[in-house]
Amino acid sequence: MKTILITGGAGFIGSHVVRRMVNRYPETHFVNFDKLTYAGNLETLADVESKANYSFFKGDICSEADLKEVFSKFDISDVIHLAAESHVDRSISGPMDFVLANVVGTVNLMNVCRANWSDLSKHIFYQISTDEVYGSLGVEGLFEETTSYDPRSPYSASKASSDHFVRAYHHTYGLNIRISNCSNNYGSHQFPEKLIPLMIHNAVEGKDLPIYGDGLNIRDWLWVEDHASAIDLIFHEGRDGETYNIGGLNEWTNLDLIKRLSEIIDQRLGREKGETIKQIKFIKDRAGHDRRYAIDASKLEQELKWKPSITFEEGLEKTVDWYLDNQDWVKNVISGEYQTYYEKQYNS
Ligand code: NAD
Ligand code: DAU
Repeated sequence: MKTILITGGAGFIGSHVVRRMVNRYPETHFVNFDKLTYAGNLETLADVESKANYSFFKGDICSEADLKEVFSKFDISDVIHLAAESHVDRSISGPMDFVLANVVGTVNLMNVCRANWSDLSKHIFYQISTDEVYGSLGVEGLFEETTSYDPRSPYSASKASSDHFVRAYHHTYGLNIRISNCSNNYGSHQFPEKLIPLMIHNAVEGKDLPIYGDGLNIRDWLWVEDHASAIDLIFHEGRDGETYNIGGLNEWTNLDLIKRLSEIIDQRLGREKGETIKQIKFIKDRAGHDRRYAIDASKLEQELKWKPSITFEEGLEKTVDWYLDNQDWVKNVISGEYQTYYEKQYNS
């Protein structure tokens, strides 16, 4: 049985990838390798825990010993690499954690792959990256695979750096790689430090809905399960050494998005129309806040026939419903370190 290592499988996107892969490919074994930082949570994967083709290994990609152990325990043929520090605001207050996890961790992981794989061209190393490496767009234009890298936050600089290392290992050592750069994901199980789940949680709790700056920054939102389906396709059918952009052509200003979310919440909670929106509070802008992201995913659509499965309208409603139905999950994940982070980020 083939064994694939998925790093960061206990995080938001990773858990959707793990669930999809484990259920779709029963003849393949999937090992979820995750450090379980504040953002990793095994409760999210309770439904796949007992599957015969799934294993969990608690480990840190920065630790050579952890990686050697997982490679000695399992005959790993390929890697889908999602493990990372992922939150831009945390990268502004603590960039070094991002250098360590995202840059050092990725290089360490590829080194252990090199040590274990005699012919690197026969093993896939798939790097999951972000559109933020391309920088910020003006009013016009889309990020294409050929757009030059221009990272502007410590988070995107760390992801750009790790992408460069992955390409360097392809050119230097012949590692069979794929890289995909995706836009903003939303859906169930996202840690409530990110915009959409933060707003849903605060709305329900009657707290402020904190909008950075003028609220006119634009993000291109994609349903997380559509990201997982793209990863599945690129892993199985993508070409060696290629980059694929993933996105939904679904641009929203933060303000319009929160207005729409507020309407759904009013309706779901039986509040009067216009009630939730009153909770909006404009606060100090994020340092170096990128103005606009938007993805051209035509290469993925044409070459691999990928397309998003649901509209944003449907996805947003499903997401609100999931958070309203799973308030215990939210309470559990925010019960620890998050309280200190939240105080510092929003109340100091
Ligand atoms: P997340 O923060 O929800 O999850 C990250 C996971 O990685 C967690 O389970 C955490 O425990 C694990 N992890 C962190 N450091 C680790 C380490 N040193 N060793 C082992 N595991 C470690 O992140 P996410 O939003 O699911 O993002 C997953 C990947 O997708 C990241 O590489 C991110 O850059 C990329 N990405 C995210 C988005 C998005 O919108 N969230 C969009 C495009 C790309
Ligand atoms: O584009 C892909 C990236 O999307 C991923 O690579 C990152 O891992 C992921 O975190 C996300 O980055 P963003 O910075 O775009 O996402 P975030 O949810 O933090 O913020 C979305 C927008 O909302 C952004 O313009 C900042 C704004 N925002 C965010 C928060 C948390 C607010 O106005 N208020 C907030 O409290």
